[in-house]
Amino acid sequence: MAEVKQLVKGLADQHGRSMESLLPILQGVVKEEHHVSEDAMVEIAKELNISAAQVYGTATFYSFLHTKPLGKYVIRVCKTITCMMHGKNQIIKELESVLKIKLGETTHDRKFTILETNCLGQCHKGPAMLINDEPYTELTPEKVREIIMKYKQLEINAN
Ligand code: FES
Repeated sequence: MAEVKQLVKGLADQHGRSMESLLPILQGVVKEEHHVSEDAMVEIAKELNISAAQVYGTATFYSFLHTKPLGKYVIRVCKTITCMMHGKNQIIKELESVLKIKLGETTHDRKFTILETNCLGQCHKGPAMLINDEPYTELTPEKVREIIMKYKQLEINAN
């Protein structure tokens, strides 16, 4: 808690304490903590002299600012129209079945999170997804399974 307080204070010193500072401060918190906790939201609200609800509203509006801890590998499947028409639902189903979690959830070992996102600019090669910063395109359920297995193997090798 004290650390979050220091972090938020430092970010407010750096970005200012106006409404325009809210987004850069939230981004700064995500960079350090990988999500925006309730404690962080309360601290931000105090520093900027706004309500915690305003901070929460902004944090949840931007889907890249998470209010819950995410897995080491964050999978973001494009949900926009072209990918939707090219079978993004099947891609999500496959991910859910391989990882044994639902969309929006994180595996118990905190390795994988499945999320949806807006257009990734890969529409001509849809369906598309990102795993952290790495784009994967022209996905099929088989391809998805292989990709996830590759990541799981990486984790096994790392241990
Ligand atoms: Fe999916 Fe653009 S619609 S990448």
